[in-house]
Amino acid sequence: MKKYFFVTTPIYYPSGNLHIGHAYTTTLADVISRYKKEDGFEVFFLTGSDEHGQKIEEKAKEQNLKPKEYVDEIVKGFLNLWKLLNIDYTRFIRTTDEDHVVAVKEIFSDLLEKKLIYPSTYKGKYCISCEEFLTKEQMDETFHHFVCGKEAKNFEEETYMLKVSSFKKYLQELFSTDFLEPESRKKEMLNNFINNDLEDLSVTRVSFNWGIQIKENPKHVIYVWLDALSNYITALGYKSKNNELLKKFWSKDTEILQIIGKEITRFHSIYWPVILNSLGLKTPDKLLSHGWILSGDKKMSKSIGNVLDPIEIINTYSSDALRFYIINNLPTDKDGSFTNELFIESFNNNLANNIGNLISRVSNMIIKYFDGLLPIKKVSNHWLVKNAFDTIKNYKEKMDSYNMSEATQIVLKLAQECNKFIEDSKPWTLEKENKLEELLEVLSVLQKNIVIISYLLKPILVNSYPNMINQMGLDPKDINFKNLEKDFKFKKIINKLVLFERIK
Ligand code: MSP
Repeated sequence: MKKYFFVTTPIYYPSGNLHIGHAYTTTLADVISRYKKEDGFEVFFLTGSDEHGQKIEEKAKEQNLKPKEYVDEIVKGFLNLWKLLNIDYTRFIRTTDEDHVVAVKEIFSDLLEKKLIYPSTYKGKYCISCEEFLTKEQMDETFHHFVCGKEAKNFEEETYMLKVSSFKKYLQELFSTDFLEPESRKKEMLNNFINNDLEDLSVTRVSFNWGIQIKENPKHVIYVWLDALSNYITALGYKSKNNELLKKFWSKDTEILQIIGKEITRFHSIYWPVILNSLGLKTPDKLLSHGWILSGDKKMSKSIGNVLDPIEIINTYSSDALRFYIINNLPTDKDGSFTNELFIESFNNNLANNIGNLISRVSNMIIKYFDGLLPIKKVSNHWLVKNAFDTIKNYKEKMDSYNMSEATQIVLKLAQECNKFIEDSKPWTLEKENKLEELLEVLSVLQKNIVIISYLLKPILVNSYPNMINQMGLDPKDINFKNLEKDFKFKKIINKLVLFERIK
């Protein structure tokens, strides 16, 4: 039976250029998407830009541009970054895309008709920078938002409200499942919102224009979050004539993973399921809410101004190096750090000294001792090859539960074992003593293991993978999960490439 996988990132605000934080979420999604494809899934990977709202309207005004002109320029930068970082999305949705705009109007009308949206007035505090109505738990005593540090403004406005409060029981049931990860975030949502005052959500604004107008009352534009969250289904053709994609990728049999940063957990774990439930659609199977990349002890963010530019890092090192650091060094269940020192240390330890060194030692020995081609030798019963087969199993278990950092570390551990095996078995001595059978076995075991290690790192090391595999005398397209444990027909190794040269 065909397996389907749908993975999404948040759609990012084009209120400035993207930074490492955004690259983090998007790389996680890209790596899991590539892994699922290797594992035989048909995959739809969605990312995009969230282009409406007061903040964007103000930014455009500052530059004397129309909002659309302003976002068009910034979005070009998004697309360029994703290209440089090898992000292989299926669709990049913009909330200004015509099909999205039409569908969001329909969604609003549908919910209004069902009386799940009703006209009202909203009074409270609003953070323009985060486009978010704040509760008192989210601000300090001088009304500064804990997330961005900006002062929230008094706000009173005619609005339409979504009846979130009547979904308390539904949400309590949903939160008794494991749909939201990590567990700590679940508790936070239950304590602060669901089991506390579960308030209705304002879904339209009248004090600015840059948004999707509702048909029923054109002075209202849809408030960013109803517009933004809907992208996950409008991108698949929800409310359009052609909804083949929706049938495939938002069905009960599809595995749906949504990856977000922790500050937008409330929107994705409370309001989004309420909207989906109101529309009669299923809730995603998993909402993975990852921690922040910090700079010092603060969230790296545009509004704080402490950001690192991923393009600079890619240009200085490489996109594979950045992808590797993100996946290996930034586990999703906690906050992580990104500094040049940590980045270089991780690259040198893991990619240069461990993986790169292993590949170059083994390919050099195959060239030196066997002229680049080992006579066929079956090694699948060797203990180290058996370790490699276990590694495949353990790696898959971790990847299947979206634990990409641990999956990577399992592979790195196998590479360390291989390096140690070289030290212990001393192929250079075997050659001197003319123990050619033993030498052949050692090198065949290592060659087989390197193919496995490289293949498991393929979703991360997109550009390097073909070189890693060529260096072992194989063609990258010959390898897949189905034949990974079988015997390969190796070709003569000619190249002596240096992969992952140490950063000085
Ligand atoms: N437009 C909304 C999301 C709408 S989704 C329907 C938004 N955009 S944003 O541009 O502010 O991007 C927020 C997302 O960027 C976070 O959820 C996270 O995925 C990523 N990150 C931004 N800064 C980050 C860190 N410092 N660390 C980790 N991820 C962060 O919110």
